[in-house]
Amino acid sequence: MNIAVIGTGYVGLVTGVCLSHAGNSVTCVDIDKDKITGLQNGRPPIYEEGLGELLQTNLQRKRLHFTTDYQKGITGKDVILLAVGTPQNDDGSADLSALFSACRAIAPHLHEHTIIVTKSTVPIGTNEQIKHYIEQAACGMSVSIIAAPEFLRQGSAVHDTFHGDRIVIGGEDSEAMQTVEELYRPFNIPIIKTDLRSAEMIKYASNAFLAAKISFINEIANLCEHADANVEDVAQGIGMDRRIGNHFLSPGAGYGGSCFPKDLSAIMSYGRKLGCPLSILESVQNVNERQTNILVEKVQKRLGNLTGKTIAILGLAFKPGTDDMRNAPSIPLIKKLMMSGADVNAFDPAATEHAKNILPREVNYANTIDEALANADGAVIITDWQEIKDYPLESFKNHLADPVIFDGRNCFSLDRMSESGIAYYSIGRPTIHPNS
Ligand SMILES: NC(=O)c1ccc[n+]([C@@H]2O[C@H](COP(=O)([O-])OP(=O)(O)OC[C@H]3O[C@@H](n4cnc5c(N)ncnc54)[C@H](O)[C@@H]3O)[C@@H](O)[C@H]2O)c1
Repeated sequence: MNIAVIGTGYVGLVTGVCLSHAGNSVTCVDIDKDKITGLQNGRPPIYEEGLGELLQTNLQRKRLHFTTDYQKGITGKDVILLAVGTPQNDDGSADLSALFSACRAIAPHLHEHTIIVTKSTVPIGTNEQIKHYIEQAACGMSVSIIAAPEFLRQGSAVHDTFHGDRIVIGGEDSEAMQTVEELYRPFNIPIIKTDLRSAEMIKYASNAFLAAKISFINEIANLCEHADANVEDVAQGIGMDRRIGNHFLSPGAGYGGSCFPKDLSAIMSYGRKLGCPLSILESVQNVNERQTNILVEKVQKRLGNLTGKTIAILGLAFKPGTDDMRNAPSIPLIKKLMMSGADVNAFDPAATEHAKNILPREVNYANTIDEALANADGAVIITDWQEIKDYPLESFKNHLADPVIFDGRNCFSLDRMSESGIAYYSIGRPTIHPNS
């Protein structure tokens, strides 16, 4: 099929590259000239495993193209995928300005019955507005609109695109729905077909449920600490119940990223507008906000006054496998430590360049874990990169004067830590004091 993808961010780029790899001719359109120039030359602007290779392969095969020119990108295409960002407005609602700006830009270049597929996460009712808006902008020309929300996870985005749990296709036009089904058929992923509004709701309800699972286990983890129980065993025990399931039951420093925080705010804002407040999700958000404080409190309790002390922060990205810093828990945590007087040495294998635009200027960036730990008074693990999990405990001891690790991701087993000679504070598990 001839496809255009509008917006070459985490979703648009990965989707465009994977659809071209499946044999389609794909043109990706973005307003960011630098991004497009880099992509034309085979350089992905984001870190995602496997993306660079697939990008280069399909550029060479000449079925993947990048442009900033809408006319060139859109003309003659059968299916247009919208994958621009839908960030958060100040009042919590979804900011749809980029989406409608993209709709305005594509409208003059469409032909009758072009299929518009919305991959962006949008509030319920938005796809109906998109159809109406495009048809008006295209002087009454008729288009078909499909809601196909995206479920890929950053850090495994390419894998998820080929091996997702389901594809949701929402629409009212059965012929257009069938075309989109054919587009995704080579991926061999179960497809669920529904109406536009239910498809939009599935995306928000999925993210809300996942965020709720994280806040639930974080709250149980905090209770475990007070009750001298071990949340790891608790999570295993409850997760073996198939009605609950064992995924997404790892406690930590809270969720972040470009989706959960803004999607929860958007669905809550939508609920308020309809006079149907979502009180569970309010608690989910509150628990998550508290969670980064808990690590800071542990550092303060152990190290006392932080003025003049140096803390090594290991991991900055909101999760391993990505360079994305949007709403990363490392941001409030580092700011709080610095406001308490601490100096911060930070290490991340991929996100440092993005972090520099977001974190306070005084942060010292390290190229290696060794460098971050050198002369530090303690280490705080915020992102469970494999490189951090594999780092030898002996080296923590060699670098830290009074070795102490505050582990926001429970990277190490308690058995291992109890033999390490390192003081170890994790989430929802007993603290290890080396000399006791
Ligand atoms: N990132 C994820 O893991 C993820 C997962 C599922 C769904 N989503 C949803 O997918 C959507 C995109 O998210 P993302 O993380 O890929 O965003 P992103 O910010 O990484 O990328 C958005 C891209 O759109 C481009 N853009 C903005 N306005 C444009 C316009 N008018 N025309 C062409 N390009 C334009 C930007 O330059 C940018 O490259 C959002 O709605 C998000 O909620 C994201």
